[in-house]
Amino acid sequence: MYLTNRVIVLRGQASLLHYSVTQPTTSVTDMSDPESCLLQSWHHNARSWIEAIRSGSIESRLQVTDQAILLAVQSRQPECVLDLGCGEGWLLRALAERGIDAVGVDGDATLVEAARAAGSSMVHLASYEQLVEATVDIGRDYDLICANFALLHQDIIPLLAAMNALLAPGGALVIQTLHPWSAAAGDYQDGWREETFTGFKGHWQPMPWYLRTLSSWIRALDMAGLRLTDLQEPQHPQRPVPQSLLLVAEPRG
Ligand SMILES: C[S@@+](CC[C@H](N)C(=O)[O-])C[C@H]1O[C@@H](n2cnc3c(N)ncnc32)[C@H](O)[C@@H]1O
Repeated sequence: MYLTNRVIVLRGQASLLHYSVTQPTTSVTDMSDPESCLLQSWHHNARSWIEAIRSGSIESRLQVTDQAILLAVQSRQPECVLDLGCGEGWLLRALAERGIDAVGVDGDATLVEAARAAGSSMVHLASYEQLVEATVDIGRDYDLICANFALLHQDIIPLLAAMNALLAPGGALVIQTLHPWSAAAGDYQDGWREETFTGFKGHWQPMPWYLRTLSSWIRALDMAGLRLTDLQEPQHPQRPVPQSLLLVAEPRG
C-alpha cells in the first residue's frame, strides 16, 4: 500500500523549512532504510539546524508556525509539557518564559546539548525507538505533549501510543506538521519524500520524511487510542495555502 523503501524527491515543493510554489519535478531515490536514515540525517545536520533556527532564517516559522504551536499549547493552560523531538529547544525556552514547566526529549546528542546549554535543564536524550520500548525514563503525567515538525517517520503509531500513556488525566497531544496538501505538490498520497534543504546555509544531508495524508493522520491517532479534538491550518494572509497542519488529540475514553 505504501511507497516503502524508496523516496520520492519533489524539488521546489513546499518544504519542511520554507514555502515555495514552483512546480515539482519528480525523481526516485533508492533508500533501503529511510527510518534510520532520517535520524542519522539529524546527527549530520544538527549544527546547521541550530544555526538556521537561531538566526531566524526560516520565514514560515517566524511568520506563522511558531506562534501557532505556542497559542495551541497555551490555550490549554498546561502546567507541565513534554516537547517530543525538541531539537535545539526553542519551544522549551518559549514555554519556560511563559511560566510553563517544559521537558524536552530528542534523539540527537548535539541538539540536546544545545538545548541544555541554552538554559533548559530537563532535556532527555532518547530515540523514538527507545521511547516506544520505554527503555529511557522521561517522566509521565504530562498535561500536554507537543511535537513540532518532529513526527517525520512512517511508523508513528507505536510512538503515539507510548506518548498517550504518558499523559495525565485530561491531557492532550498537540502535533504541528507539514500541511499534507501543501507539501504533496500534486502527489497526495502517503509515502516517503526527501527534504534537500536547498537554499539554506551550511552543509546539509538530505533527510527522508514521510508524507501522511489528512485521513492517514487521523487514522494513526485513532489506532494509538487518541481522538482528534481540534484541527487548525495556520496560514499567512498573503499565502495561498496553509503553512502547517495542527492537530490536537486526547485519549479516547
Ligand atoms: C524538524 S526538527 C524539529 C525540532 C523542534 N521540534 C523544532 O520545532 O525546532 C525534527 C526533530 O526530530 C528529531 N528526531 C527525528 N527523528 C527522531 C528519532 N527517531 N528519535 C528521536 N528524535 C528524532 C530530530 O533530532 C530533530 O530534532
